[in-house]
Amino acid sequence: QTAPAPVIVAIDGPSGTGKSSTSKAVAAALGLSYLDTGAQYRAMTWWMLSNGVEVNDPAAVAAAAGKPVIVSGTDPAAPTITADGADATGPIRTQEVTAAVSAVSAVPEVRARITELQRSIAREAHHGIVVEGRDIGTTVLPDADLKVFLTASPEVRAARRSGELKGKDAADLSVTREALLRRDTADSSRKTSPLKQADDAVEVDTTELTLEQVIECVVTLVEEKQLAT
Ligand code: DC
Repeated sequence: QTAPAPVIVAIDGPSGTGKSSTSKAVAAALGLSYLDTGAQYRAMTWWMLSNGVEVNDPAAVAAAAGKPVIVSGTDPAAPTITADGADATGPIRTQEVTAAVSAVSAVPEVRARITELQRSIAREAHHGIVVEGRDIGTTVLPDADLKVFLTASPEVRAARRSGELKGKDAADLSVTREALLRRDTADSSRKTSPLKQADDAVEVDTTELTLEQVIECVVTLVEEKQLAT
């Protein structure tokens, strides 16, 4: 009996669609590795903020893009991320990083560096991997075995996001909604690999679904792909 071929799953979509929770749960259920590419852009942003890089100056960001060593732990049960050896898992979720990450991630030198990192992590995942982000199906892993694009109405996405923030940063719903839509617009309109659904992606609208239903749906899609190959 031969081991199943590694399966590469790309999960893209805007924030608040349940992308991270779904990706982690699908990877865990199927024994695959997991990569949160947003965390890599956040770690780059955190490192720049911590090292005095002017994040709104694309030339300064481009010049610093090659400097930090960013390492992702790909266990879906306990994903980790470090920048120059420092644990970035907590700091990358602060409002300060969230507000700056779109500007940093729009810089082509940052994307080139992180895309290369993502491809090498995917290559080395021997049992396969679930990679979540914005441009995984279109740019990073165009040959992925399965591409999923998660969507949800802006109202539902804002409500989910403010639920996540509760207790950390008290954010009211309308402020969260504004910030989320601003980030969507920035991420979708940037020149270098914007947030965009791949032509061959399966769209899953999560507006009316529970997290469990979304997970079940994506697990089924992966299993169908595995049976077909
Ligand atoms: O998924 P997230 O909110 O942690 O992502 C943070 C930011 O990183 C998001 O605003 C856009 C950027 N990003 C990106 O440009 N490309 C990716 N593949 C993942 C995230």
